[in-house]
Amino acid sequence: MRLGIPKESVPGEHRVALVPETVGRLGDGVDVIVEAEAGEAAGYLDAAYREAGAEIGDPWSAEIVAKVATPTADEASRLRSGQVLVGFLQPLTDVEGIERLAAAGVHAFALESIPRITRAQPMDALSSQATVAGYKAALIAADRLPRFLPMLMTAAGTIPPAKVLVLGAGVAGLQAIATARRLGAVVSAFDVRPAVAEQVESLGATFLDVGVRGEETEGGYARELTPEQQAAQQAALQTHIPTFDAVITTAAIPGRAAPQLITAEAVRAMRPGSVIVDIAAETGGNCELTVPGSEIVESGVTIVGTTNLPSTMPTHASQLLSRNVASLVALFVRDGGLVLDWDDEIVSGACVTRTQVGV
Ligand code: NAI
Repeated sequence: MRLGIPKESVPGEHRVALVPETVGRLGDGVDVIVEAEAGEAAGYLDAAYREAGAEIGDPWSAEIVAKVATPTADEASRLRSGQVLVGFLQPLTDVEGIERLAAAGVHAFALESIPRITRAQPMDALSSQATVAGYKAALIAADRLPRFLPMLMTAAGTIPPAKVLVLGAGVAGLQAIATARRLGAVVSAFDVRPAVAEQVESLGATFLDVGVRGEETEGGYARELTPEQQAAQQAALQTHIPTFDAVITTAAIPGRAAPQLITAEAVRAMRPGSVIVDIAAETGGNCELTVPGSEIVESGVTIVGTTNLPSTMPTHASQLLSRNVASLVALFVRDGGLVLDWDDEIVSGACVTRTQVGV
């Protein structure tokens, strides 16, 4: 059984789906073929892959291909029927990309569709990459603020700690809270799922109750708020937001545009020098003024809409992702052969296109 690791072709994507350290953990019977320079942008050189036992060659010829971003049209044309593909395939939003994979006749497994069950935790790439994004967002907020995060008592006077608000306390939000706390900020957080209040408080932050409670889906995700609830949330947040120096927003609803939490009016009410880091920029942003992929200044407030934050820390993002990919691939391999057990809820749950018999 061969596992192919292509070099990512999307501009700005610096991660790689498998790092040398994981090559040796795949077990007997799995040979790894890595495209030349696939790991270079993440700090993993071809020599390290060779040393770990991988071959440098054509990854598209392998029975299983694992990559980070969904294949481009050109890449998809290199796939063939019966092959297994693993990656962030955007199953809920990239209709064209999924149709392409279906037409190619591959068994495609989307990392986003892995059920969030305990057994699947080692494969949970959404969580591993959200951890990176949350950490980086807190660092960006600290970097862009024209002030200290911690309280400082110096001979020149006492500096009060910065106040940080985190909106959305899922995996990324909790990591942003923990990181901002480590840097000494006073942190508050809000999520529509009231169950997270305890987790927020266990990290030393305050749960900001804005009086809006959402529902949870069976998968543990938040349900989209009604327009009335959303308006109530925006109005409540508007009164709180000007009291914070930095706001990190992470609110998301799978398959939907990001909920808008911060209106343009709320931005204009913030103090000059304040910062908003919008992790949800990729799906439109939680702030009305966010420009996805850009950093802007509006009324003295810096709004960071950088997309693909995990790719800005490619070494560790790839290392974590690599372990997720290896755990998923291990489910597909039995005695050195490809066995797709459709009765396994992880295998059937993550599959977004299947090879049709006879194709
Ligand atoms: P996500 O990235 O889809 O959303 C981020 C956060 O935004 C969520 O906490 C969500 O409640 C919140 N949100 C949505 N709309 C909002 C609004 N209008 N205002 C404020 N916040 C809003 O979620 P993520 O981080 O991927 O986690 C989703 C769920 O999965 C969580 O319940 C998490 O605990 C659970 N989970 C379970 C795992 C398991 O293996 N059992 C592993 C990882 C996560």
